[in-house]
Amino acid sequence: MATAELAGKHLVLGMTGGIACYKIAELTRLLTKAGATVQVVMTEAATQFITPVTMQALSGRPVYTSQWDARVPNNMAHIDLSREADAIVIAPASTDFLARLAHGMADDLLSTLCIARDCPLLVVPAMNRQMWQNPATQRNVAQLRADGIEVLGPDSGPQACGEIGDGRMLEAAATYEAIASFFAPKILSGRRLLLTAGPTFEPLDPVRGITNRSSGKMGFALARAAQQAGADVHLVAGPVALETPWGVFREDVQTAQQMHDAVMRTVADADIFIGVAAVADWRVDHVSDRKIKKTAERTLPSFSFVENPDILAAVARLSKPPFVVGFAAESDNLEVHGEEKRARKNVPLLIGNLGPQTFGLDDNEVILFEAGGATRLPRADKQTLARALITEIAKRLPPGISPAG
Ligand code: C5P
Repeated sequence: MATAELAGKHLVLGMTGGIACYKIAELTRLLTKAGATVQVVMTEAATQFITPVTMQALSGRPVYTSQWDARVPNNMAHIDLSREADAIVIAPASTDFLARLAHGMADDLLSTLCIARDCPLLVVPAMNRQMWQNPATQRNVAQLRADGIEVLGPDSGPQACGEIGDGRMLEAAATYEAIASFFAPKILSGRRLLLTAGPTFEPLDPVRGITNRSSGKMGFALARAAQQAGADVHLVAGPVALETPWGVFREDVQTAQQMHDAVMRTVADADIFIGVAAVADWRVDHVSDRKIKKTAERTLPSFSFVENPDILAAVARLSKPPFVVGFAAESDNLEVHGEEKRARKNVPLLIGNLGPQTFGLDDNEVILFEAGGATRLPRADKQTLARALITEIAKRLPPGISPAG
């Protein structure tokens, strides 16, 4: 998550009755950590699952539970609360609440607030699989979608009742991601992005290999930012210990050759290609199929290497290439090497890291190299920087490359 990526956003977080109420404690923490202000409103049923005191402590604001709250001077809580909101999020959204919402009922504070709103409404359903599959629920959900209400989830898996199926609420982190994505400007709407991230692993034998210190964080942050910007994202990842960003299609590979093949298989569908991966330049020409053993004579093993394909250059050489963006980590003289590398690889844009020492760190500082000159972006955490880079890339897309939307 980027620092304060929801700064300035004010959310009404409406909770209805369901065991998934426990997830909202964590969701509130994630939203406030991202800079949003959160006004919790609970139905009577929700207070049976988690106390308003807990939600007040986590949101830092008094919680509203009743239409007749004496704290509101004009008795217009439903108007005041919804006017202040940038969005209302109902999580968990029970079967009953979805039904009441679909029929425009307004018989308690939360439902009245929804009908009196002048802002987007997002609902995060949580229920037993049979309740979810019930034709009445499906009808109501279809109606809500038709009314322009965002339905986030539900997830599939084990449920509190012991059954397995569709209906469980998205986890707090996934709900947070969906909300953050909802607020991001859709500057890559309709675009298809293919990108590589992480290191590659070149085996020597079944247990050993050559890799590098790329953490994959920058590539994953870019994948997340592009997804939030509305792109359809295909991420080809080397071996990294990172979670797949929400809504991103991920393909895992090990070697440079596998990464090359995965990219070449799908690049024809891409409008943009970003090569963020730290791809090994060489691999051993013969991988031992058994573990290489120490010998009695202690002879040292020796290896000969062959060159790996240059994925970035291969994409740039295609007869109809997508918009190609390269990355480069240089230990010295980035200003000179960056532009030289961009021209040699024949890509319109190359993003130079100020030093490979940024591998694994959470922040980064980069220079953009292009034919017209170089632009330095301010140091920032990788997620904030990723958003800035996606904005820069979106600005540079040739209009003809693919129709947006
Ligand atoms: O040549 P160098 O590795 O410094 O170039 C870095 C850029 O080239 C990155 O965008 C990286 O993903 C890409 N690259 C590649 N295939 C290689 C080597 C580098 O796509 N074999």
